[in-house]
Amino acid sequence: MKRYEDPAFQTRMRLRIDYNNMMALQLGDRGIADAELDALAPRLAAAAEALEANRSQMRWRDLPHNQNQIVEEIEKTAADIRLRCENFVVLGIGGSALGPIAVQQALSHLRYNDLPNEKRRGPRLFVIDNVDPESMAALLDVIDVQKTVFNVITKSGGTSETMSQLLIVSDILHRIYGEDISGHLIAITDEVRGNLIKIARLEQLTTFYVPDGVGGRFSELCPVGLLTAAVCGIDIRELLAGAAYMDEWCRERDVRKNPAYLLATLAYIAMQRGCNINVLMPYADSLKYISDWFAQLWAESLGKRVHRDGSPAHTGQTPVKALGVTDQHSQVQLYTEGPFDKVITFLGVDRYRTEVPIPKGYSHLPDVSFLCGHSLNELIQAEQRATEYAVMKSGHLSHTITLPEVNPFTIGELLYMFEVMTAFAGELLNINAFDQPGVEEGKNATYALLGKPGYDEKRAELAAQPERAPQYIIG
Ligand code: PA5
Repeated sequence: MKRYEDPAFQTRMRLRIDYNNMMALQLGDRGIADAELDALAPRLAAAAEALEANRSQMRWRDLPHNQNQIVEEIEKTAADIRLRCENFVVLGIGGSALGPIAVQQALSHLRYNDLPNEKRRGPRLFVIDNVDPESMAALLDVIDVQKTVFNVITKSGGTSETMSQLLIVSDILHRIYGEDISGHLIAITDEVRGNLIKIARLEQLTTFYVPDGVGGRFSELCPVGLLTAAVCGIDIRELLAGAAYMDEWCRERDVRKNPAYLLATLAYIAMQRGCNINVLMPYADSLKYISDWFAQLWAESLGKRVHRDGSPAHTGQTPVKALGVTDQHSQVQLYTEGPFDKVITFLGVDRYRTEVPIPKGYSHLPDVSFLCGHSLNELIQAEQRATEYAVMKSGHLSHTITLPEVNPFTIGELLYMFEVMTAFAGELLNINAFDQPGVEEGKNATYALLGKPGYDEKRAELAAQPERAPQYIIG
């Protein structure tokens, strides 16, 4: 039996949500009263009903359960890549990059790329999620292309940033290998739509698909995230098992017992009170990029101009990424003494994967030597508790999600919980959490500016913009 199949392991790895510091009992007037939560009960029940009724349209909810065959194929491809290359480079942006980065940071060695080859579980990983020319040039300076496999990922199959990266890489590959570049480039995209699938067929690339109904920011648990994770030696079956466990837990209709519904409800109440900033503050470097992944999920899903019926909405909560303890020395002053416009989610860990004692020394300096005999583990956890306390004492809303350990199972739980939480918040806000019309506008304007056929009207719209007034430009 795999450990993730063992009910005792699953129970030990269950996430913990402590929302005392959101509630009036702890926070006084600024907190949420139980009566306020209870009064929302019919609304919450209706939202839970709607989410379950629409479950079949949310194909990302099937991912923990329906990928046995695809996981086998991914593992086979990953094993081959691990054998024959030194570098694995992901080309993608948004949902096609943030998940792979977050999971790699969470579940691989924190200096993974710097480890000597024999100590690494797979090739070095680089994710290029921007079109900064200096980053592309820098990448090409540090990799040997002949010892590299590239993985281009785009759900839509047409995102300009990713397509330009692909054009650069495929040009280099064709110069080296001639016509057949199929051994050096893998595609992940929609099976039918977009241009990447056409290119993949033309170049006869190994291709994995983003299932229909799985949007970019909900795609980490499909091949988009699984291939990179498997290449880097992460147990993707355990990752999916963690997500499946959370899916089961998220079937609970009682909002106070369902972690995703509960967190979404608390965020919703906070938004109604004008707390339109959502800070995610992990106390673990391994979880640092979970905040980046979550920022896209929360911002793009909930930041909407209209309700489902077309009436004005302008909803959303601005996600802020913070890192404990680093940002205690940067942002916590604002969190304790600044405006009452935010909710802080602390992300803690019970057992870090290593223990680092603080040795004895400088005993003549009591202000230093009080640390001796403790460990960095005790220190980081004490600082988390102290910051939670300071934030609570200042009357600001916060809660804590704790991972018993950081491992594939708990990361699967966490990602899936955040996804359901986002969907439930969308339901409460009565908006479409699964589109991104604001992003599309920018994409279309870029196409128009760069002369993509079919965008003449947008080009004319941009050209009709008033000239930039020189009196408002300095320098
Ligand atoms: O959530 C989304 O769908 C978007 O943010 C996408 O992830 C992002 O725009 C990249 O799109 P694509 O994967 O189609 O290149």
